[in-house]
Amino acid sequence: MNKIIVKSEEEGGIVAGDILLDLIKSTSKPVLGLATGSTPISTYKYLIKKSNDESIDWSNVTTFNLDEYIGLGPEHKKSYRYFMNEELFNHININKDNTFVPDGHTKTNEEASKYDDLISSKGGIDLQVLGIGTNGHIGFNEPGTSFDSVTSIVDLTSETIEANARFFDNKNDVPKKAISMGLKSIMNARKIVLLAFGKQKAEAIKNLFNLKPSLDWPCTILNNHNDVTVIVDEDAASLL
Ligand code: PGA
Repeated sequence: MNKIIVKSEEEGGIVAGDILLDLIKSTSKPVLGLATGSTPISTYKYLIKKSNDESIDWSNVTTFNLDEYIGLGPEHKKSYRYFMNEELFNHININKDNTFVPDGHTKTNEEASKYDDLISSKGGIDLQVLGIGTNGHIGFNEPGTSFDSVTSIVDLTSETIEANARFFDNKNDVPKKAISMGLKSIMNARKIVLLAFGKQKAEAIKNLFNLKPSLDWPCTILNNHNDVTVIVDEDAASLL
């Protein structure tokens, strides 16, 4: 795994954003895997600025988001579809019909796994952006998730609910379930860029680099991938 240590979240967003823009400029029909949460926001801010300053064309870009809360529809302000529209899609010339976020109203795992079929039908993901949970989750693949998992409905751990409570008015409002691309779905991406900022991510980053692949720390599966770049600030890298 390549490791890039940056001085700030803003610099991390520039480094990640430039990797994405290189792909967009050099590929005729790029397929991006995107993430939500606070981590990718600096990347999206940079992408919006550069895209506007340099008239970068997103009309041939397809995107797939990692996950969505079960029970939240696209118009819900805390849904990840809403987040993506607000933080990125509304500000670039992407065709929204080419942006996919798992459906928060999915009822069964059979339905959920069709998301992987859709990804395959678009040629697979060229570059997947990831954040990381304090418990090492990637997407919403919590500790114990099978390395063979595909997109499915998952239970959130109390640690994740606690961590995400800051986005809601009340901790009880945080959905208890999500639909998430599986670890296998993520590993199918041809290239992966993982970002982590802040001391609260330091243990997960330490384990990512130091543990053999283990179900206890889902992020460690990335050691089995041959093209992963990890972009961390000094706080997240402090236990390395
Ligand atoms: P965060 O979440 O970006 O809001 O820290 C990351 C994650 O849980 O994957």
